[in-house]
Amino acid sequence: MAQKFTKIAVLTSGGDAPGMNAAVRAVARTAIAHGVEVMGSLGGYRGLIYDEMVNLTSGAVSNKIQLSGTFLYSDRCVEFKEEAGMQKAIATLKKHGIEGVVAIGGDGTFRGATDLSQRGIPTIGVPGTIDNDITATDNTIGFSTAMQTVIENADRLHDTCESHARCNVIEVMGRGAGDIALNTAIATGAVGCVIPEVPFDEDALIQKIVRLRKAGKRGFLVIVSEGVGKYGEVLAEKINNYTLELSKSEGNDRLWVETKFCRLAHTVRGGSPVLGDRVLASKMGVRAVEELLAGNSDLIIVEKAGEITTAGIGYSQVLDRMYKDTLKEGMLDKYTAEQIADMQKYIEEKKAGIKKTYEMFETLAG
Ligand code: F6P
Repeated sequence: MAQKFTKIAVLTSGGDAPGMNAAVRAVARTAIAHGVEVMGSLGGYRGLIYDEMVNLTSGAVSNKIQLSGTFLYSDRCVEFKEEAGMQKAIATLKKHGIEGVVAIGGDGTFRGATDLSQRGIPTIGVPGTIDNDITATDNTIGFSTAMQTVIENADRLHDTCESHARCNVIEVMGRGAGDIALNTAIATGAVGCVIPEVPFDEDALIQKIVRLRKAGKRGFLVIVSEGVGKYGEVLAEKINNYTLELSKSEGNDRLWVETKFCRLAHTVRGGSPVLGDRVLASKMGVRAVEELLAGNSDLIIVEKAGEITTAGIGYSQVLDRMYKDTLKEGMLDKYTAEQIADMQKYIEEKKAGIKKTYEMFETLAG
């Protein structure tokens, strides 16, 4: 029979993501509706270690859904990775009579969640990260808003590029994942896109820009994911220098596509969450509490083909590693051959999907 909960905690950890507040609100209101008290841990796992906890009444989460950032604050807490830190966190949970935790964040947050689960604290993860790099879910909270912010900024840059017949290379966040870059490259009508998942032909892009400039095109955007390293600046310089030299050798100054570089960096993490993130966060927050109260633990909430469901944290971590080709010896030992084949198929389909989307981007870019 499932444990009867009287009090749970919620925290936001890792890089903040628009929509985290909506998820906290959903967790708090759902728990309260089930007669369960809720506390918020300030600054992610740090709040558990240092007993920085606040009561989350229904009123405390009021008027927060539209706010960006996280009103519970966030941290990438190194101390929590150590056993001593974790034991302090568990002591705080015990002190307050907290019987379960909902942890909102990315893969680092889920490592912490699984550690708590393994030490007897039921914990459910909710994917909140702009990167959309949790392989087990189609969407993460914050991803849609981040892309919206990128296109708003890129459209502005496009305007001025058009006026001056220039190019702007824009670097966007995404850690190791090109999802933000690829989707925003499609949505902004960029001429080029560089992501870690698909090989990039630099020469072909430069020649394309030259051909299009000769045909009269004026404004050019290239979106580069930070996942490919500090390449955006290099590429901007190459486009600039190549077209400058060409303009000189052909005696035609119109061929110079002056190219600037812009790193959007953390601007992409801010801003009021778009509708999609508010709704996704609400659905995931509700489900997280339902799972916890049903006696489940060590799961993350995922969205698959529009449905909210769950995945084991261990399974989700293996999928992430399979996707990035970083599996370590023994990590697949507890899975059957059939399960492994299913995971491999899932990864292949996901990668094929990105490749197909990239091909579509290239067909449309011009
Ligand atoms: O994981 C979210 C993210 O914004 C990544 O896109 C980025 O690489 C990283 O966090 C930046 O981390 P920080 O906020 O610690 O600089």
